Amino acid sequence: MRAAAGARVTPMTRFKHDILIIGSGAAGLTAALHLAPFCKVGVLSKGSLTAANTYYAQGGVAAVLDEGDSVAAHIQDTLVAGGGLCREQAVRFTVENGPDAIRWLIQQGVGFTRDSQDPARGEYHLTREGGHSHRRVIHAADATGLAISSTLIDKVRQQASVSLFESRVAIDLITSQKLGLRGKRVFGAYVLNNESNEVEVHEARFVLLATGGASKAYLYTSNPDVATGDGIAMAWRAGCRVGNLEFNQFHPTCLYHPEARSFLITEAIRGEGGQLKLPAGERFMHRFHPLGELAPRDIVARAIDHEMKRLGVDCLYLDISHKPADFIREHFPTVYERCLALGIDITRQPIPVVPAAHYTCGGVLTDLNGRTDLGGLYAIGETAFTGLHGANRMASNSLLECVVFAIAASRDIHGLLPTAPPLPDIPPWDESQVTDSDEAVVISHNWDELRRFMWDYVGIVRSNKRLQRATHRVNLLKQEILEYYSNFRVSNDLIELRNLVQVAELIIRCALARRESRGLHHTLDYPDTLPDPSDTILVPGNYGADAWSEQEPADAG
Ligand code: FAD
Ligand code: SIN
Repeated sequence: MRAAAGARVTPMTRFKHDILIIGSGAAGLTAALHLAPFCKVGVLSKGSLTAANTYYAQGGVAAVLDEGDSVAAHIQDTLVAGGGLCREQAVRFTVENGPDAIRWLIQQGVGFTRDSQDPARGEYHLTREGGHSHRRVIHAADATGLAISSTLIDKVRQQASVSLFESRVAIDLITSQKLGLRGKRVFGAYVLNNESNEVEVHEARFVLLATGGASKAYLYTSNPDVATGDGIAMAWRAGCRVGNLEFNQFHPTCLYHPEARSFLITEAIRGEGGQLKLPAGERFMHRFHPLGELAPRDIVARAIDHEMKRLGVDCLYLDISHKPADFIREHFPTVYERCLALGIDITRQPIPVVPAAHYTCGGVLTDLNGRTDLGGLYAIGETAFTGLHGANRMASNSLLECVVFAIAASRDIHGLLPTAPPLPDIPPWDESQVTDSDEAVVISHNWDELRRFMWDYVGIVRSNKRLQRATHRVNLLKQEILEYYSNFRVSNDLIELRNLVQVAELIIRCALARRESRGLHHTLDYPDTLPDPSDTILVPGNYGADAWSEQEPADAG
């Protein structure tokens, strides 16, 4: 930490919260709304409140909502998709709480799509996605994230006890260890205000990391720019264990077009009959899995990658044009409009698609309340590793996880708040040893290099040789970036790059540690799946500091 007691520093802005929530996606906003009635909450967002993966979610939220469906079936499908590595307790917890989570979203006003076949019954339309044995994905056409995000933001803006801080990027957690105090607890975060360029102190008795995933570590991704794994990197530096980061999910179908940046083509298109085709028009998925286009996502992405490499082509095709044009426009208005703007009429033409990095299945280890290894620190949503997803997340289980675990963490904090220790004196950020950066090109160059070698060497198909090459490069980059970080004033890009290189290193370490192919981790050197599945848990050097007595370290399961 740059700030040290007694260092020469300039005065700085300081905020005191009961709870600091870092992130304004589904996880962070759900927690804010549950905590608002009984304490003062601060919510940080790197850009605007909508700049989050949540806003871009298309397909929907999975939960048992249909009479013909069952909790047992949702659990079983999740376990199968997870390649034998899910924690059954976490799966059961999430699935059992699913219907209540959806009811809560509906109460907030999320406008899920009604079933147009039978409008009089007022029921919601449920779609299907890969790995699900039933229709159980509730959605708002193909813009579910926008509906959830805008509804929750409206609600949160009405809460007098919630302060919203946009254009703020958390740099690091403030912990007892860094302050030289006994115990193992979090007391807030140092935060860069992207508008004033000032580093602020946000003090808090509890901190929730709701910072989303790390798919920006890859050159091609469906994610917006904010997905740089900041929460995972901050938690790791603060002494928390992380795990299963080798399981980065690649979504099989992102739009392939020179003018389309990170645009997803929802899996619900395949759920409603969309067919994957080779350039000559032949279907191929049944050669790879009996469920064809609706096989679990890891299998579909690998099949597409395999066929693209075999044929030496830049993309394959997703075709829904055999369905009535009205049906397509009604169910997939966002995809229809976006493609049409690029000259592709999906009611008549196939959509060019490629796989792209989409979802971080691993993350910061937590228990079923979202508690991490550090007293007072919680991780919820995509940044957490709860054990729900195992080796491969089933489609539409992640928004569900965000809501279920945000509620669980809020309840846990509610119980602990009265006995939380007081805040110590926290020194301001120390900028006395740094100057303004003289060569911003170092950041942009390293950013590009990192994301390219991650794509080439730590992508859909891996090998020992590729992972060793990646290790060599990540070590060099890390050294250079950390040196730069210690010499120059922080900026948004530098903070993100420092986190990205950290998370990339952790992904590579996890991938090297797994000597088998399972779920999203497929390696040419260990093509078989081992009989006894186990998680890949990385333990930071500073993990051993005294544990906070009230809080057991998270159960890794
Ligand atoms: P996010 O929504 O990503 O929010 C992260 C927040 O943290 C942002 O506000 C960001 O600004 C903030 N943040 C990050 N770092 C910092 C920092 N250092 N300082 C301050 N703030 C910070 N899942 C489904 O279940 N169903 C779907 O249909 C679906 N479709 C998807 C479609 C797309 C295109 C994408 C990208 C993902 C989709 N997913 C879907 C996955 C799902 O959207 C995400 O897993 C989920 O939204 C994550 O929510 P979150 O709250 O954990 O994080
Ligand atoms: C999609 O709509 O295909 C994304 C669903 C998900 O990632 O869960």
